[in-house]
Amino acid sequence: MKLCMIGTGYVGLVSGVCFADIGNQVVCVDKDKNKIEKLNSGISPIYEPGLDELIQKNFTAKRLSFTSNIDRAINSSDIIFICVGTPTKKGSIKVDLSFVYKCTKEILKYSKRKKIIITKSTVPVGTGDEIEKILKKKKKLFTVISNPEFLREGEAIRDFRYPDRIVIGSNEKKTFNIMRKLYAPLTNKGSKFFTTSRRGAELIKYASNAFLATKITFINELANLCEKSGVNIEDISLGMGSDSRIGGRFLRAGPAYGGSCFPKDTKGLVSIADKFKINLSIVKSVIKSNYNRKILLTKRVSKIMNNKIRNKKITVLGVTFKANTDDMRESSSLVLISYLLKKGAIVKYHDPSGPKKEFKMNKNLTFERTLSNACIGADLIIINTEWDEFKSIDFKKLVKKNNFKVYDMRNLYNPTELRKRNIKYYSVGRQ
Ligand code: UDX
Repeated sequence: MKLCMIGTGYVGLVSGVCFADIGNQVVCVDKDKNKIEKLNSGISPIYEPGLDELIQKNFTAKRLSFTSNIDRAINSSDIIFICVGTPTKKGSIKVDLSFVYKCTKEILKYSKRKKIIITKSTVPVGTGDEIEKILKKKKKLFTVISNPEFLREGEAIRDFRYPDRIVIGSNEKKTFNIMRKLYAPLTNKGSKFFTTSRRGAELIKYASNAFLATKITFINELANLCEKSGVNIEDISLGMGSDSRIGGRFLRAGPAYGGSCFPKDTKGLVSIADKFKINLSIVKSVIKSNYNRKILLTKRVSKIMNNKIRNKKITVLGVTFKANTDDMRESSSLVLISYLLKKGAIVKYHDPSGPKKEFKMNKNLTFERTLSNACIGADLIIINTEWDEFKSIDFKKLVKKNNFKVYDMRNLYNPTELRKRNIKYYSVGRQ
């Protein structure tokens, strides 16, 4: 099939490349000419394991192309995916749909023949209806459907190829068959194909992300209780997660959740509900609890260091919002590092995805390219993300001194084993 992806962010680029890989003719379009230039020379503008190789493979096979000419991209395709950003509006919890509506107007302007328009971006209930209103002048040319994307950064290619479910929301039954054909290579391998109304699909995406955020927040709050009551949170996660009604995934205690989706979509869902005069009190308290967690875990550093942070050498391992991504959006490390600097610490950070422009120039903050340079001489090592290379560190060998401490926010180590080696070790939800 001939597909056009508007927007080459995580969703648009990964889906476009993967659709090409299952045999479709895909053109990815973006107004950012630099991005398109990079992509045309085979370089992915985002960090996603395996993506560069797939871009090159499908580009060479001439199934995949990149352009900033939206007119040509639209007119060479039968199906158009809207994959532009839907950020939170500045100073509000509302969803900013201006990019979605802007590209809808472009579709209207340039389309000369029949098209299916699919929202893959996360959009509030009723956005499909608004898109239809914009398109009403050429109404007969378009069918608007919703097909939300559930991929996780760092696992995006796998998530595209083996989705738990493919959700298609349409008010016209005949489009389900076209979508069935498009996704046949995935459903043939066992992925579930789920059809619903367009509004239903729009809401499923927000509901899923808000529920996962709730699960994480629940276990994070229980971790606080475990710390006070002498219980190990890992046992609680396992004991609860083994109940198939609950499930063990997204039940790992750690820092506040971050990233481009959970913080944005929880707020977005509350604002959608507000519009319908519905009070989503659980999601509201998840947002608040997650905010408090950033502060709670950050302030704990003062406790661990007996309020002596000034001039202490503190190493932060991993600064992105989770492992296997270079994404800093809503990462709790932003709060953590600015607190440490404010308290006068000398901070080094190491992240396998490289240095970060999000940290302003500061003489007390340096990026270290290697784990050993980052750890040497540290008074405190803070593990903020769960990259594989942080999972079996020989701390004593790397720090090269005796009286250092380790604050493991991801519970990567066994406290008993580290204490046996006389390492002062602190984690979350455990003694
Ligand atoms: C998420 C959704 O999983 C995906 O379906 C959606 O389309 C986009 O948002 P992503 O933002 O890439 O994907 O990250 P994810 O792996 O879901 O993690 C989100 C946050 O939750 C991270 O900060 C992560 O560290 C945290 N998390 C996750 C936990 O703290 N504990 C867990 O058990 C799982």
